[in-house]
Amino acid sequence: MVKSQEVMEGAVKTKVTEHSFYNPHMQFNRDVSSLAFGAIAKEIMGRNIGKISVLDGFCSSGIRGIRYWKENACDGKIVFLDANKNLKPLIAANAKTNGIKKAQFEVAIQDFNVYYNKEGHDFVEIDPFGTPAPFIYNALNQFRYKKRAYLSLTATDTAVLCGARHDACIKNYNSVPLNNDCCHENAIRILIGFAARIACQHNFGVTPLFSFSKRHYVKTMVRLDFGADNALESAKAASMLAIYTPGTLETSLAMPFSKAFRQRNEKAIVSGPVWGGQIWDASFVEGMIKLNTERKYKGYEEAGTFLETISKEASLPPYYFDTHSIFHNEKIQSVALGGIMENLAKAGFKASRTHFTPTAIRTDASYSDMLSAIEKSR
Ligand SMILES: C[S@@+](CC[C@H](N)C(=O)[O-])C[C@H]1O[C@@H](n2cnc3c(N)ncnc32)[C@H](O)[C@@H]1O
Repeated sequence: MVKSQEVMEGAVKTKVTEHSFYNPHMQFNRDVSSLAFGAIAKEIMGRNIGKISVLDGFCSSGIRGIRYWKENACDGKIVFLDANKNLKPLIAANAKTNGIKKAQFEVAIQDFNVYYNKEGHDFVEIDPFGTPAPFIYNALNQFRYKKRAYLSLTATDTAVLCGARHDACIKNYNSVPLNNDCCHENAIRILIGFAARIACQHNFGVTPLFSFSKRHYVKTMVRLDFGADNALESAKAASMLAIYTPGTLETSLAMPFSKAFRQRNEKAIVSGPVWGGQIWDASFVEGMIKLNTERKYKGYEEAGTFLETISKEASLPPYYFDTHSIFHNEKIQSVALGGIMENLAKAGFKASRTHFTPTAIRTDASYSDMLSAIEKSR
């Protein structure tokens, strides 16, 4: 007898068994991802491109795809895919329990990289153990013949993307990581950059809609638009370098590895290539906030605060200043973050908190403007 347990999450009731992988700590991820899926569903329906066809690529019990489906009242087709053959009856039973009709779903038991469906999918979810990098090529195959599609990626290899395993990041993502205060945002930028460079090869441009970092993982959802101009624009955004000199972290298209650059910037740390464009679409995040208030998941207050923070930082420049690092590096007394933000605003700068860390400020001010705002806060 296979041991099983009932799980209630969002609007769905599913079973998980000893064969499936279910991590209750990822409920927050599934909550906000379902909100993002809802915002995408609205975008697709609004543009009249038909019913959404979904591939839940690493589905395990199917809970993620079932939540996307049921909570967003979809009625296209969903394929649940997992390499573990023991999961087939569980996935089918969970789909049926939650009202997905037989004609609307399929269970594919195979390796993600050998799956191909000639009709393709509008939305592909990649939620593997560790890195999604080896699966992005085949995800792009599913978008063949689509003008517009959506890709959702979770990466749990944050030690790699955040630079604790520097060489593995070069190997897996062909990118030099950054192991400092901004490493989680940089991890997302490395991941989006990697996906975008593959998308370009398939003639798709990428627009990040929603990204976040939490616990041991980073997640991003991007839209793909077909066309050479879109792909070229993305190729440029995905080929930026993050240049960190004490106090500043900025992006540049140039490859500043010249001797002259090194002499001028002997303390510079260069990471990349990274995605240098926006990692959120502010109006998309607003749509998620609206859905969150309507839907009221069990953890909707936490999700609400989280999304509000993201909506404020969404239109500000890449990267942020960690105030504790500034106090430490400049050997100055600490002051409250709120006061610094007020003084930045008084000086005409935009400033917000960031969901990446509670001690940092994202702003369009320079490092020296930050130091003035700190001094004025005493
Ligand atoms: C992190 S779990 C997925 C969790 C699930 N999406 C959820 O939200 O509960 C990863 C799943 O990927 C499956 N898997 C691992 N390698 C795979 C591959 N190459 N192709 C398809 N599935 C794979 C595993 O069997 C496992 O069920």
